[in-house]
Amino acid sequence: MFEKIRRRLLLSYLIVLSLILGGFAIAVRIVFTHSLLEQQTEKLSALAQVAAANAELDNGQIKIENDLPQDKLLEKHQGLHWFNTKGNLIGKQGNDVFDLPIPVAEGEQINTIGKNRIQSVTLPIISSDDKQFIGYVRASQSLEEFDETLNKLDLGLSGGIIVALVISGVGGVWLTRQAIQPIEESFERLKQFTADASHELRSPLMAIQSNAAVALKYPEGMREADAEKFQAISSATNQMTRLTEDLLFLARHDNIPNQSKETVNLSSILSNLVQLYQPQAVAKQISFKSQLSQKLYLLGDANQLTRLFTNLIQNAIHYTPSEGTVKIIANLSTSHIVVNVQDTGVGIAPEDLEKIFDRFWRADKSRSYNSGGSGLGLAIAQAIAQNHGGLITVTSQLGVGSCFTVRLPTV
Ligand SMILES: Nc1ncnc2c1ncn2[C@@H]1O[C@H](COP(=O)(O)OP(=O)(O)OP(=O)(O)O)[C@@H](O)[C@H]1O
Ligand SMILES: [Mg+2]
Repeated sequence: MFEKIRRRLLLSYLIVLSLILGGFAIAVRIVFTHSLLEQQTEKLSALAQVAAANAELDNGQIKIENDLPQDKLLEKHQGLHWFNTKGNLIGKQGNDVFDLPIPVAEGEQINTIGKNRIQSVTLPIISSDDKQFIGYVRASQSLEEFDETLNKLDLGLSGGIIVALVISGVGGVWLTRQAIQPIEESFERLKQFTADASHELRSPLMAIQSNAAVALKYPEGMREADAEKFQAISSATNQMTRLTEDLLFLARHDNIPNQSKETVNLSSILSNLVQLYQPQAVAKQISFKSQLSQKLYLLGDANQLTRLFTNLIQNAIHYTPSEGTVKIIANLSTSHIVVNVQDTGVGIAPEDLEKIFDRFWRADKSRSYNSGGSGLGLAIAQAIAQNHGGLITVTSQLGVGSCFTVRLPTV
């Protein structure tokens, strides 16, 4: 039980941590990309401005100065293109790869050519003499390096996240263990207390029971009213003995030690139980049927399994009114034995279905212990099924009936 809580705690911790780290990495990437791109754009704009300043109108034609300082500014992944006012290319410098599509558009652009992403900044050329618009200049550069930097950043961030998660996972295992340990210890103490208290109650209960039995055995000279009181004492003591036995069972039987497991024939356990409870069903005018496959073998504890199915059969008979039907069907599926205990009884409300396996839970709280039980029967049945690596599920409809399905792994 605690292993499950521990694992769930660790998983939630890792999910929260990866969300935080993921959010942090995304924020870092966005800020980094934005500022790097801004820097690149600024550089390109500066280059385009220098190139624009070095183009002049000569007899109606744009002339590009030869000793351009932008020549020195050009890095190997950059290029410059000059256009006339109509957008026709009239000169270029730098890397030929960036033959960006014409027509030109003023401003900043990012185009994809083949595998390359090209960033460009286009500015108008204004003649320095008469302030006349004479064409455009476009400075462009490949974003290959930029993309490479981003790839490295992505790799670094995801590697960092993975390393952080692995380290936190290891730390988390230790932390959850530390956090659960006191709860586990106090749960163990509580269980021990329940077991001890139930155990200690056994002897006085037995003493009351035997004294009441002796008194009832020799009723001579006893008033009738006193005999009835002794009867009530005897019956209440029986009830309490059952309750303490049940509590002791739940406190002690968390799992079956491997050495006490034996090969059990479930078919014979079930057919014995059907015979045993047939008279009780007949007395209540309930039709009690069974349909059992032969040779249903599993590894487990025969006494516990008998108790599991006794509890289910007792419930089915108890919560089914006369003229009803109780049916037990047991079959072998691929790796499991599946036993259905069906009844046409009072049924269970949908909102109660998940509570019925809780200790001391009963649908009708007003009923006295004598009319039903303590509400431990299904908790014990579920504990036994789990001890055997199995599980009990239930489907039910109010006023129609219930079906308890027990799945137990085979040998
Ligand atoms: N076959 C059934 N049909 C309808 N209700 C059921 C059935 N089985 C169980 N229940 C409901 O679930 C509750 C819990 O069952 P459980 O067997 O744990 O306790 P109980 O029968 O009341 O007492 P005991 O400890 O004697 O078994 C019952 O009180 C009843 O309300
Ligand atoms: Mg019961």
